[in-house]
Amino acid sequence: MASLNDVRRSFLDFFVKNGHQEVASSPLVPRNDPTLMFTNAGMVQFKNVFTGLEELPYERAVTSQKCVRAGGKHNDLDNVGYTARHHTFFEMLGNFSFGDYFKERAIPLAWELVTKEFGLPKDKLLVTVYHDDDAAADLWKKVAGLPDERIIRIATSDNFWSMGPTGPCGPCSEIFFDHGPHIPGGPPGSPDEDGDRFIEIWNLVFMQFEQQADGSRLNLPSPSIDTGMGLERVGAVLQGKHDNYDTDLMRSLILASAEATGGDPDGQGKFHHRVIADHLRATSFLIADGVTPSNEGRGYVLRRIMRRAMRHAHMLGAQDPVMWRLVPALTRQMGDHFPELIRAKPLIEETLKLEEQRFQKTLDRGLRLLDDELAKLGEGQPLSGEAAFKLYDTYGFPLDLTQDALREKGRSVDLKGFESAMAEQKTKARAAWAGSGEAADESVWFDLKDQHGATEFLGYETEIAEGQILALLDAKGAQVASLKAGETGSVVLNQTPFYAEMGGQEADHGVLSTEGGKLKISGVAKKAGGVFAHLGEVASGEIRVGQAARLELDHERRGKIRSNHTATHFLHEALREQLGDHVAQKGSLVAADRFRFDFSHPKAMTTDDLTAVEQAVNAYIRQNDVVTTRVMTPDEAVAEGARALFGEKYGDEVRVVSVGRKAGGGIYSIELCGGVHVGRAGEIGAFKIVSEGATAAGVRRVEALSGAAALEHLEVQDRRLKAAAALLKAQPGQLVERLEALLEERKALQAEAADLKKKLALAGSGGGSAPEAEEIAGVKLATRLLSGVSGKELRSILDEQKAQLGSGVVALIAEEGGKPTVAVGVTQDLTAKISAVDLVRAAVAALGGKGGGGRPDAAQGGGEDAALAPEAFAAVKAKLAELAG
Ligand code: ALA
Repeated sequence: MASLNDVRRSFLDFFVKNGHQEVASSPLVPRNDPTLMFTNAGMVQFKNVFTGLEELPYERAVTSQKCVRAGGKHNDLDNVGYTARHHTFFEMLGNFSFGDYFKERAIPLAWELVTKEFGLPKDKLLVTVYHDDDAAADLWKKVAGLPDERIIRIATSDNFWSMGPTGPCGPCSEIFFDHGPHIPGGPPGSPDEDGDRFIEIWNLVFMQFEQQADGSRLNLPSPSIDTGMGLERVGAVLQGKHDNYDTDLMRSLILASAEATGGDPDGQGKFHHRVIADHLRATSFLIADGVTPSNEGRGYVLRRIMRRAMRHAHMLGAQDPVMWRLVPALTRQMGDHFPELIRAKPLIEETLKLEEQRFQKTLDRGLRLLDDELAKLGEGQPLSGEAAFKLYDTYGFPLDLTQDALREKGRSVDLKGFESAMAEQKTKARAAWAGSGEAADESVWFDLKDQHGATEFLGYETEIAEGQILALLDAKGAQVASLKAGETGSVVLNQTPFYAEMGGQEADHGVLSTEGGKLKISGVAKKAGGVFAHLGEVASGEIRVGQAARLELDHERRGKIRSNHTATHFLHEALREQLGDHVAQKGSLVAADRFRFDFSHPKAMTTDDLTAVEQAVNAYIRQNDVVTTRVMTPDEAVAEGARALFGEKYGDEVRVVSVGRKAGGGIYSIELCGGVHVGRAGEIGAFKIVSEGATAAGVRRVEALSGAAALEHLEVQDRRLKAAAALLKAQPGQLVERLEALLEERKALQAEAADLKKKLALAGSGGGSAPEAEEIAGVKLATRLLSGVSGKELRSILDEQKAQLGSGVVALIAEEGGKPTVAVGVTQDLTAKISAVDLVRAAVAALGGKGGGGRPDAAQGGGEDAALAPEAFAAVKAKLAELAG
């Protein structure tokens, strides 16, 4: 029996043999289509190739594409597990021609594969064609020799395939397998076509048109081919099974589920195992493609699938997390063809386990509440909307999980009641926000949030994506239908790779382009708790609401922000290690050109501290550890040792960023952080602190650079050092020594200069000889005005002059820059009668100053105006006459 892996391989090989390029499956999150939640067909990655926007180096391709149909237009979630052929995750095998061959080749190739490679008996096959597609009908007749009654013409959209409301489309032709008359059901187009007898195994689309939003259709540049064959379906047929879940691959997962829960794979719990097997694939592949559980958008679809599976495991009696234990069974089956599963295995296991642990806490209580509510209901009565909302809001039960649980009991939910309970909660949330005073001009953002939901952020995974323009606001904040060249405003999209300024990290900049216009994005703000406002100016043309837009970040800027952000985490940890556990983050800024970090610490960091921090950060950069990001609740994160940031409001989910391995084991830096980071620490390149200072009492700020900016800074410093050394005619290495010598020399010269100045001053007023003195009331008084002498030097001059006078009073006024200092000395023999303090006070007052003080033998004071020196000396004389007389 050919395994599903064999079937996939032979499909791919068959088309490779026929000149097709084998192309890997594209990710489940489409990069090139803003309207799609998940990739749901093989042609999604080639959409722009069909329409001629993109060219590939080959014209024929073959793929096995991962698809998810849960959420969005195609949603099979509700039926999974209960039917034979519904899946949330499946593989679509397909061959493609981009303007190369058309139906004349597609039909013979398909027939050859199905009847020769796969060996399906011709008489069990029949086909459908679009009602007016004579060419296809003729080809089937000619190539397959099918009789007319087994070439069924269908007039409905069943045989006209379109990707969505817009995009490539064309008539199609489907191949059906007849399981035989013992199974109920009629051929396609008959009233009982929904039975299980005739199963569609392959859809060949003859792509010819591009559907426009206005309803018209354009011709594609050239007719093309897109086909889709569900691997699980065709595998079931080839394995002689009627049910996709009986194929080898699905069966192995069901057995793994049974083993993990200790149940019988085919017993009463059969449906639970089927749901688990399906949901294990969908969740694992979504996580591997970068989706993480959240309460919005794709993340919420993932969460819904995860929790649904967890409830089924719970129904099987599982007490401990189960899903994560099934991942090895999946990677064994599918890891060879999808290596991303192996690469992401630890992440998948951990994400599943954490979600299971978290949900377990409320699952039991929620189910009990559900039972209580059910017991109260009358026959056939639906569960009240309020109860369903309480389960959703308090116990984390997605609505479809509740519906799934009720389905087993033949009940439904009052959906209207659920909606109104939800609406009421939104109104309350808004009122609470209004109370915060920010409401007035913010109300438009709440309207947008109610209407369109939160913007989905794709920027952890990609820097280029498409989004749909949901709303435009002009510069005054009013909603408008379009913005024209030269106008500024805000753009709201359903999804975006642009980071909105948050948690200290600046927003991304970049370009938004539509078919007719271009807008330069220079800022992004997060409004109403989740709507991203892209701010900018229309550079050319016009952009309109409803258009699809291509969004591309300024990659260089984003790269610098990544580098600076990871470096900030290292800096935080290094500061704590160097300075102590009291270091707590008080704020931070992560810009493209620099970053800064504020933290609690009572005193300036020493040079040694700074060097140690720089060395530690650079060592961790060189260690080149992978930066890992996980999503968990804030409590779990803190329990893991993550550093929670100051003043930050955290939601139910937080991202936890870890990097660096400590020498003794353990992770170096673990932080709660919604920002963007490098993939590996080595990408930061270099780290350099440029300043350290105080911002408030007990708070220090370190500013630093990373990457090229750090190196540039070092280069500039180096150039300065060399220039300084050149001035001293020395080598940079001798600079300190030479400067020390110069400073010594300078000190000596300064002392010499002071000495000379003093001498010069005295020489100007009588030289070094004994001061000329007059006699006042029998006491000798010498007075002198010394210009260019500072107050500091006055004291020693005073002592010298006193000694020369022998007995008497010396009054000196030094003047420097117009400001006088006065000093008065009284020789020891006279101090009993005459105090220098009294004399100096008289002089100071005459000089327009206040105070003055010292001892009886020497006192000093300052004045305001040196021009008043004669008055000051007169005041001294008068005072002396008074004291001595
Ligand atoms: N794109 C076609 C489908 O999804 C083949 O059925």
